[in-house]
Amino acid sequence: MVVSACPYALDLTGSHLAEEAARLRQHGPAARVTLPDGVPAWAVTRHSSARRLLVDPRISKDARRHWPPLADGRIGEDWPLYHWVSAQNMLTAYGTEHTRLRRLVSGAFTPRRSAAMRPRVQTLTAALLKALAARPAGQSVDLITHFALELPVQVICELFGVLDEGDRHTLRHGLSESVRTSARAEEVRQAQTSVHQALAQLVAVKRLAPADDLTSALIAARDEDGTRLSESELVDTLMLVIGAGYETTVNLLGNAIVELLSHPDQLRQVRDGAVGWDAVVEETLRMRGPAAFVPLRFALQDIDLGEGVVIRQGDAVLISFAATGLDPDEHGSDAARFDVARGERRDHLAFGHGVHYCLGASLARLEAAVALPALFERFPHMRLARPVQELEPTVSFVTNGYRSVPAVLTPEPGR
Ligand code: HEM
Repeated sequence: MVVSACPYALDLTGSHLAEEAARLRQHGPAARVTLPDGVPAWAVTRHSSARRLLVDPRISKDARRHWPPLADGRIGEDWPLYHWVSAQNMLTAYGTEHTRLRRLVSGAFTPRRSAAMRPRVQTLTAALLKALAARPAGQSVDLITHFALELPVQVICELFGVLDEGDRHTLRHGLSESVRTSARAEEVRQAQTSVHQALAQLVAVKRLAPADDLTSALIAARDEDGTRLSESELVDTLMLVIGAGYETTVNLLGNAIVELLSHPDQLRQVRDGAVGWDAVVEETLRMRGPAAFVPLRFALQDIDLGEGVVIRQGDAVLISFAATGLDPDEHGSDAARFDVARGERRDHLAFGHGVHYCLGASLARLEAAVALPALFERFPHMRLARPVQELEPTVSFVTNGYRSVPAVLTPEPGR
């Protein structure tokens, strides 16, 4: 990998996130990169610069208002990352618009509301473990498909009242295509269309028959007072929260499982009670953060980051949350080492920082705190079915995880 060429064409498949981040970090507080179709941006992989920019009011996430190439039509629907900048929800909003869109949903995700979901998360986890236990001993099973993905999908779909299995499938497929950053614009458009249709249908159904779920609550907010939420903001908000609700949590679970299975000494410390499961979750978030580069931010004014790097007004900025957790300047020379017993774990940015701080952080932590101990207790002899080096990463520079995690849960009798 050559990152000396400047601007460097960001790897759209995200297959070497850690290596790429280490090299980009050497270029200063931000490095010049190109996105699909040669669109320029600044990549931020250092913890200190990311933390600083995340609270800088001169940085916006609203491309419609603050990114000249979109506003003047140089970037349009045929750009593969178009949906990341054209959506109308809190993730792409700035200032009071952001406050308005976030407030409509934030009450449902307070730490207390998330904690109240513990019994339901436990029940769903138990059902998934039962299904896994019914599989023949000695055979390999993909823990992403049958566990790490399934749990957060079920949780978020229940929360939003997506009960139909066909709708869940459509959303799952469409939303995962949307984060595949190497996909062609046409593929993304098709995926987005199917998700939009499924969500518009969901809204229509809930409007006729409201239920005790968050989709119905959002519709009520919209219908009581249309100035609080437009129809397209309603659908785009559903798309954001449902997608964010599992596209990242799946990787938190998958990454933690892989790290523990490939570090038996550390797993033993956790099993012995010397280290708590919360340390496993936080170390995974730090060292294998599930969200990598989350598109896209824009400078409202020139911003001098030092070391000769000046982000100019209108420039696009891409922050890699996963890369910041690997920054030796913040986390020490052994930052790339998974260590559940790490003495002093500095704050990580895996859930972001500032006004866009992850709305679902408590829920994600709860799911991991329930699912991981339950899985390892149920299958004490579980092992990876393939060497860790052979596991394939997700095809995306937005997500940081594994496409599949094949594991043997119980040894064959007699072995
Ligand atoms: C381990 C799991 C998760 C990780 C690592 C994660 C990570 C992040 C990060 C880094 C951001 C900030 C993005 C930015 O500033 O550009 C964010 C925002 C967000 N996350 Fe999460 N997330 C996770 C789980 C969830 C869950 C379970 C939900 C929903 C139930 C959720 C909903 C959101 C929403 C709505 C935002 C946008 C907040 C805003 O713009 O104000 N996330 N997440």
